[in-house]
Amino acid sequence: MLRKNHFKNKKIIVGITGGIAAYKVPQLVRLLKKEGAEVQVVMTDAAKSFVTPQTLSVLSENPVLSDFFKNTQGEWNNHVHLALWADAIIIAPAGANTLAKMAHGLCDNLLMSVILSARCPIWVAPAMDLDMWTHASTQTNIQTLIDRGIHIIEPEDGELASGLTGKGRMAEPEQIFSALENQLLPPPNFFTGKRILLTAGGTQEAIDPVRFIGNHSSGKMGFAIADALIQSGATVDLVFGSVSIAIPENCNTYGVTSANEMHQQCLALFPKCDILIMAAAVADFAPVEVASQKIKKTEDSITITLKKNPDILSELSENKRNNQITVGFALETENEKNNALAKLQKKNLDCIVLNSQSNPDAGFGVDTNAVTVLCKDGAQWQIPTASKSLVAQQLLQSLSEWLTKTH
Ligand code: CTP
Repeated sequence: MLRKNHFKNKKIIVGITGGIAAYKVPQLVRLLKKEGAEVQVVMTDAAKSFVTPQTLSVLSENPVLSDFFKNTQGEWNNHVHLALWADAIIIAPAGANTLAKMAHGLCDNLLMSVILSARCPIWVAPAMDLDMWTHASTQTNIQTLIDRGIHIIEPEDGELASGLTGKGRMAEPEQIFSALENQLLPPPNFFTGKRILLTAGGTQEAIDPVRFIGNHSSGKMGFAIADALIQSGATVDLVFGSVSIAIPENCNTYGVTSANEMHQQCLALFPKCDILIMAAAVADFAPVEVASQKIKKTEDSITITLKKNPDILSELSENKRNNQITVGFALETENEKNNALAKLQKKNLDCIVLNSQSNPDAGFGVDTNAVTVLCKDGAQWQIPTASKSLVAQQLLQSLSEWLTKTH
């Protein structure tokens, strides 16, 4: 399964404690950054004897934190905020002392306070000499941590810094990365490995060289769906019109301006796709004539005659192959469900996602959304108000369940 940039939007604290294996941690930070994670390094003073904060700061693109206070003016590094910010914490290396402190709830440094305040999953990559590892107290501490739900990334057998050979070497950065990857990513779903044609943003219909007819679409919902699809391991062809946010990475992007350009681009890409998700706000009408020069305000009023644009979704859906799936969006201001159900049928869709313009927390421009999904077999469900990113994840999860049942 192809998954790229799959730590995008994941916030990870890398906690480094004193031990020779600390020299390997910059490689872990590099791997996480390369896959799009936001990384905050928190290191103990002892760790600084083995790896420099400068190296970690450069690689993580963030200042490294070690102390409770940022400066002598008393400005503090809020460990509670740090812990709540993180989606995951990995402590590497964790020596016998750190494991003991964790098992007993000691918090004599910033890292320990972050660990005690954390609500997110925690991983630990122990590293120590073989006898320290097998010692009953270390093993009891490890068991205590496992019982509390902390993930232990077992040390490896091999040559140790003491010159002895045995179990105690910290797992390699690549293995630590895989352990995080396996648990942090969404499990494969219906979209994994599929090719999705997704549209987003609004179209603009030129009136003259400087003016157009457009709409308020920001592209936020469509792009959140793109991110969630990419995280699910789908290949995404993203056709986008006018947007006000950064364009997602790790997908094939096609920028267009007008509905006609979107139409042409979608016609070219549709045959290759397994699923079409049409989240774009396509202008229904465009000026019949586009003035070649800026229209001057010589008249008291002007009339612009508009003609209907092609209905991209209807056209593609009418001609879809048996195994192609089409999902539309509907923006309604009245009689919402009935209008959306009529569109579902008229446009030959598998599902339609209803946005309500009457909900102030949903729709154009805002960062949150709430939608109702209606399917051709009568199935329907609601996704309550949440960030567009979360709504996109829940939308795909629920669509995946419905598609798995019905296809
Ligand atoms: N759509 C499209 N081409 C158009 C207009 C809309 O592909 N020319 C798609 C939208 O991307 C959306 C769905 O059709 O997925 C419904 O769009 P919406 O604006 O809610 O409805 P319309 O079909 O335009 O109908 P109306 O404006 O009359 O409600």
